[in-house]
This record gives sequence, structure tokens and C-alpha cells, in this order.
Amino acid sequence: MDLFEYQARDLFEKHGVPVLQGRIADTPEEAEAAATAIGGTVVVKAQVKTGGRGKAGGVKVAHSPAEARQKAEEILGLDIKGHVVKRLMIAEGAKIAQEFYFSVLLDRSNRTFLSLCSVEGGMEIEQLAVERPDALAKIPVSAVTGIDKALAMEIAMAGRFPEELIDSVSDVILKLYDVFVKEDATLVEVNPLVLTEDGQILALDGKITLDENSDFRHERDDMERDALDPLEAKAKAMDLNYVKLDGEVGIIGNGAGLVMSTLDVVAYAGEANGGVKPANFLDIGGGASAEVMAAGLDVILNDPQVKSVFVNVFGGITACDAVANGIVGALNTLGARASKPLVVRLDGNNVEEGRTILKEFNHPLVALADTMDGGANTAAELANG
Ligand SMILES: Nc1ncnc2c1ncn2[C@@H]1O[C@H](COP(=O)(O)OP(=O)(O)O)[C@@H](O)[C@H]1O
Ligand SMILES: [Mg+2]
Repeated sequence: MDLFEYQARDLFEKHGVPVLQGRIADTPEEAEAAATAIGGTVVVKAQVKTGGRGKAGGVKVAHSPAEARQKAEEILGLDIKGHVVKRLMIAEGAKIAQEFYFSVLLDRSNRTFLSLCSVEGGMEIEQLAVERPDALAKIPVSAVTGIDKALAMEIAMAGRFPEELIDSVSDVILKLYDVFVKEDATLVEVNPLVLTEDGQILALDGKITLDENSDFRHERDDMERDALDPLEAKAKAMDLNYVKLDGEVGIIGNGAGLVMSTLDVVAYAGEANGGVKPANFLDIGGGASAEVMAAGLDVILNDPQVKSVFVNVFGGITACDAVANGIVGALNTLGARASKPLVVRLDGNNVEEGRTILKEFNHPLVALADTMDGGANTAAELANG
């Protein structure tokens, strides 16, 4: 989960990273009030999850509360790379002498953490990496030993910080590494990290990506999050493991591995059937009870893009007859809402009993498939036809 800049600022402050005052504002009036509270020169900053806000007109200096209000009017509603600005941060203005770059991130391909550092900050890092690759130091960081003062100094030196700043910058690097570890982040980036005219090192813009798997260890309930796709929100409320995709064949399976293979098989079958594709990932897990099946079908059938549904279940501890009863129960629960053809492939424990239940149920929209490939083909044909 990527954070907004104001959320990153708050986490920096929590861990002692030097930052300036920042207040959120959702209206020009709130922006004016925030500028009054901060006093002096402020910077009005669009809170959108994309870089290059400055260049896009989303970061503006204001010398008075009235001017902050006016800048807020200009920035609110602005479209920055497809992100519409709904919220601002009013930040205390810094007198910048120099802009630097620092980040620490999870480097998956090398199975380690990596720190990037450069005295040439301000411009976007992708651009720096292409135009001035030798100005960007890349220092691997062991997840076991982390960053200590000596390594922090080494990083600052590799980034070519001047001698007299190594000590203060390395102290800030240590605190940023604290944020990275203690908040369970996969990215902490500061661009720019600045030297002010009076010699302070400050984090002026922060980007943090948190590992959501760690949510249970933190108090993040009140944290502003991106709005989920409405179907994903509905699925989440029902505790379903659902990801919306851009296709026509709804998929339900049990076990993430089987569902992944089902997506592949359906995508392949789709190539011969007008290019139809899987509409979602949905793993209903081992239980595959009638309630879960009904909840899953309900979500999938609510997707206007879906033309057919492929239910691919392997009976294990929950045997096929229980799954078949689940499907029957789900279709009875849904009634007229079950409006799209359903191809069901059952295999595994008690498969004959399961198939018999569905045959006797004799629902006009349900077709049985013998194999996974066969089922995928039928579902793709139905979605195409
Ligand atoms: N609080 C601030 N005081 C003074 N200048 C700022 C402040 N915040 C940002 N800036 C200036 O605006 C530039 C762009 O802002 P930044 O927050 O980095 O947004 P983005 O990276 O999305 O363009 C910075 O490089 C810096 O020069
Ligand atoms: Mg920036």
C-alpha cells in the first residue's frame, strides 16, 4: 500500500526524522486556516499518489493565508497523471540550499534491501538513473544487520555528500531506516532531502510503501486508503479472496493454485473463442460451503462484464457432494439473480455423488464438465456466444 505524502510525513515525525509542519486541507477555507496556523510562507501540495506533482502544477508556494487559499483553489480538482486532487497538505516553507535523494527499499530480485543515495536530488529518480547513473549510489543492505551508523556514513559518502554533512545526513538515514523496519515498509523514499540555508537536514517529500501483511501489528484502522473497486469491496466485506480482472468468464475455484491454473486454462480457451478472458480470481478456500459459494457467485454475477461462470472445484476434505450441495444452496439463495450460465467441473473425493446431486437439481443454467480443459472451453464458448 502506497501512502500519501502527508501520511509519510507523519510516520517520519513519529520516528524522529526531521520534517516541517504539515496540515491537511480538503477545501480552500481549510487551506487558509492551515496557513494561518503555520504562519509565514507555506507550500500548498497536492496529495496524490504519483510523483512529479511539482512539474504538474500541484506544488505551489504561498506567502500569505489568502494566497494559500487561492493556490488551493487552483490545485484542488487538478488532474495529475490521472489522479484528481481531493486533498492538500499545507507545509511550512523551507529555505532550500540544496536538494538530495535517499531511499531504502526491498530489492526482491537480489533478495536483500537496497539503499539509493545521491546529492543530486529533486528531479525524478528514474530520470537521474538514466541521465546521471554514476551520480546515484546503490548500496545493498543486509536485512539481518540493517543500517548502523558506519553503513549510514558509507551510504552518504557513496552518494557524494560533502564531508561536513556526512555526520548529520547519516543520522537522518538511521532514522529513515527505523521507519522502514518499524513500520514494515517495502519502500521509504525522500526526494528531496534538503539542506536548508541555516544548515538543517530536512525530509521535504516522502514516499512510503507499507507491507499490508503487517497491518495486524500496527494501528492502521483509521488510515486513509485508496477506494477499492466496488466488487472488490463487496468481496472483502464477505471475506472472499477476490481480485477483479478485465475479462468475461467468471472464475470460482478452491485453492489459490487451482484457481491460478484455471485462469491460465480459460485464457487459453479464450484465444479460440473471440479472445474472451478470465473476469476475476476467486479462491473460496477449502470449506466451499453453500454460504461461501453463494457469496462468491453473488459477487461474480454482479460484474456486468461477466457472460459465463466456470466453477472448478477439487473435492478434498470438503468432498464433491458437499460442494454440489453448496452450489445448489447458492443457486436457491440467489434465485433470479443467478442469471448467467454456469459450467461446473467437479473432481476428487465423492465426485460421483456430487455430479448426481447437480444432475438431479437440473438447473437450466448449469452445465457439467468432465475435465478442466473441457469446462474452460464450454465457459469460453458461452461467454463468446
Ligand atoms: N515545504 C517545502 N518548502 C519549500 N519547497 C518545497 C517544499 N516542499 C516541496 N518543495 C519544492 O517543490 C519541489 C517539488 O515538491 P515535491 O514535494 O518533491 O513533489 P514532487 O516530487 O511530487 O514533484 C521540491 O523539489 C522542492 O524544491
Ligand atoms: Mg519529490
